Amino acid sequence: MSKEGVGQANRRGESSKLKASAELKRIGVLTGGGDAPGLNAVIRAVVKSAARAGIEVMGVKDGYAGLIHGLITPLEPKAVSGILPRGGTILGTSNRDNPFRYPIQQADQVEFRDVSGRVFENVKKHGLQALVVIGGDGSLTIANQFWKLGLPVVGVPKTIDNDLSATDQTFGFDTALETATQALDKLHTTAESHHRVMVMEVMGRYAGWIALEAGLAGGAHVILIPEIPFTVEKVAEKVKERRDQGKRFTMVVVAEGAYPKGGEMVVQRRVEKSHDPIRLGGIANVLGGQIEQITGVETRATVLGHLQRGGSPTPFDRILGTRLGVAAVEAVVRGDFGQMVGLRGIDVGMVTLDEAIGQLKKVDPDGELVRVARAIGTSFGDELS
Ligand code: F6P
Repeated sequence: MSKEGVGQANRRGESSKLKASAELKRIGVLTGGGDAPGLNAVIRAVVKSAARAGIEVMGVKDGYAGLIHGLITPLEPKAVSGILPRGGTILGTSNRDNPFRYPIQQADQVEFRDVSGRVFENVKKHGLQALVVIGGDGSLTIANQFWKLGLPVVGVPKTIDNDLSATDQTFGFDTALETATQALDKLHTTAESHHRVMVMEVMGRYAGWIALEAGLAGGAHVILIPEIPFTVEKVAEKVKERRDQGKRFTMVVVAEGAYPKGGEMVVQRRVEKSHDPIRLGGIANVLGGQIEQITGVETRATVLGHLQRGGSPTPFDRILGTRLGVAAVEAVVRGDFGQMVGLRGIDVGMVTLDEAIGQLKKVDPDGELVRVARAIGTSFGDELS
């Protein structure tokens, strides 16, 4: 079915009439990659809507690790009662158990092996006729590999980073944005009272969505994102410009993936067992020291870190998660496998997993949000600022 078709079906409310074919009896659901607020909303919607269609749902524990080790148990509607406002995932998750590159400790070194055969054995053993995979680009890439090997899968996009190209917004992003904006508001008071520069580092990997939108919402004077390399001199210029105007404090939001022109991203650690081993982090402290040195203004750094992934999902994320969970079950019932449900405009639609994982969605440096920020005097630390 086309994307439009799915959107229309949802608007007409046809999900309540869902009926699985007599052969479709049992499906599995797993959450993979980093947790994000709204995962439980998706799980709940999958279980409840599947039950109404006469399909039993099995919960796979800890992402792909559960498929490898057979950690698969029934997930009845009563098990998802009350989980809507809860952060995290009741199923557990993992961002380091790729069945096609599974780490096995051998004496003093780690060897990577393809254990995907174990996944097929467990799928068969537990009678899973299809799998709903809720994850980011890493988990969906693995889902696509399984689909190509014959496992019927439907993907549900998840990430606080909002960097998946085939969906306009992922659940988890809105909650992370709320947390980051509130943090910026709180840092504002100390900045103003102590006449300091406050540098707040947010997550987002290689995309600057959280930094850009939290920066806009929280009135940051400088926003630094990976899509627009900065120079520290330009950042310092903004601090001095404000001081000359009698404003004795400056708020800087920096994405963990932001980097100076001609320089590199700050890597905090490597997690070799992970799909993408790079863990970014630490730019705020580096930058804070440099700003203080150049401007002479006392500067403090705050790294928000995993606070952005925690807490109760916003109403937007709860609703989006619920819509995507229902759409995933509808896709399973129709037999639309190898695809991902996602938000396109105001509608829920579908794209192939091939399209979904092709490319990361990054901030357009010439896009409207950046232009709006520049128009109100926000510096991006570049030559246009
Ligand atoms: O993709 C979500 C995310 O929180 C990124 O923003 C961040 O770079 C990464 O995951 C951190 O991963 P971990 O939880 O493994 O430290």
